[in-house]
Amino acid sequence: QTSAFTYDPGFTSTASCQSKITYIDGDQGVLLHRGYPISQLAEQSSFMEVCYLLLNGELPKQDELATFSRTISRHTMLHEQLMTFLRGFRRDAHPMAIMCGIVGALSAFYHDSTDITDPQQRMIASHRLIAKMPTIAAMAFKYSVGQPFLYPDNSLSYSANFLRMTFGVPAEPYEVDPAVEKAMDRIFILHADHEQNASTSTVRLAGSSGANPFACIAAGIACLWGPAHGGANEAALNMLREIGTPDRIPHYIERAKDKDDPFRLMGFGHRVYKNYDPRATVMQKTVREVFNALKVTDPVFEVALQLEEMALNDDYFIEKKLFPNVDFYSGVILSAIGFPTSMFTALFALARTVGWIAQWNEMITDPDQKIGRPRQLYTGPTQRDYVPIDRR
Ligand code: SDX
Repeated sequence: QTSAFTYDPGFTSTASCQSKITYIDGDQGVLLHRGYPISQLAEQSSFMEVCYLLLNGELPKQDELATFSRTISRHTMLHEQLMTFLRGFRRDAHPMAIMCGIVGALSAFYHDSTDITDPQQRMIASHRLIAKMPTIAAMAFKYSVGQPFLYPDNSLSYSANFLRMTFGVPAEPYEVDPAVEKAMDRIFILHADHEQNASTSTVRLAGSSGANPFACIAAGIACLWGPAHGGANEAALNMLREIGTPDRIPHYIERAKDKDDPFRLMGFGHRVYKNYDPRATVMQKTVREVFNALKVTDPVFEVALQLEEMALNDDYFIEKKLFPNVDFYSGVILSAIGFPTSMFTALFALARTVGWIAQWNEMITDPDQKIGRPRQLYTGPTQRDYVPIDRR
């Protein structure tokens, strides 16, 4: 083990499963994908390369990556009937509602990749999901702003294709800014997988019943939507905008510490990290890169930096080991690129699909896996006899 930290395989007593995909040391703020540190993958890899790594366990050689990328690009289009289905939503439908509905409906259109006992069908379903999520997310955005859908252009990279489908219009050519493409790709890498978080556990539990992969991913999307989980990126930027100026930060920090106040610092704290989320470190650096490349700024970034500084020096946050997580800065970048806050969690779901499907494949191919069946601690009444209604 060539690691700088003491390696702890996990909580053997309460572990819900075994996995070879992602390792987190919450106390030391370590995140590895198949053994590779997230900071190295974010800085040196591409999202397509990380997808290959998560699915296959090893980094691809040049020809393997080229073949994989080409295979994914061949699944980027959606059945035309699904576009009709999407047009049935209200224009103000939340993109996560659309994503949940469309992904669940994929099982009604792609019958040749729903037999989970067939390795070929499992692989095709995995590739279809990774490939179609950008198209679905872009269509959800276009639909909300009343613009026509753009079909995928497979001559572009995964992230460039997504940016063009989202921000391009048929009336004129759309040039993807290389700095924005790089930032988008890095954001996807930072969200790709994260061990047994709530939505991944949901996908595994749904998959353990033998449900088809599209239904399982739709279940993961539903779980990710919550503000305590993937919805936090949208909530964090809304919070930063509500704070507005640094002088208002102390008031919000006091509110976050007040047990009688339901307010929480969104983008802060984590079920596992009791140290700095390594993804937040890269995210903060990426804010600066995107601002410089686009020659923009946003006062909420200064609010975020000062909020982090004040919170990390506050006894309550120090004692509770609360640090910024992946959602604290991501919204600042996504907003600078041009996404509305309503799209933030859909982007999280787009990126996390590869993690969900890699974990689903790992579970499905485990010969010892059985249907998930969590138990409970019963605190209800002991057995008693029925009382007819006229005697109650
Ligand atoms: C993600 O699991 C994953 O891996 C998820 C994720 C992934 O990649 O899949 O990393 C993505 O979901 C990140 C988390 C995004 N959510 C938010 O940023 C929402 C704001 N955060 C909080 O809601 C909270 O931190 C949770 C839900 C994330 C965790 O809550 P817990 O389980 O209560 O955390 P904890 O046990 O560490 O809390 C310790 C104490 C508690 O107070 P006491 O009960 O000890 O009195 O700190 C408090 C908490 O109430 N606390 C906060 C706080 N987070 C925890 N107080 C103020 N602000 C916060 N943000």
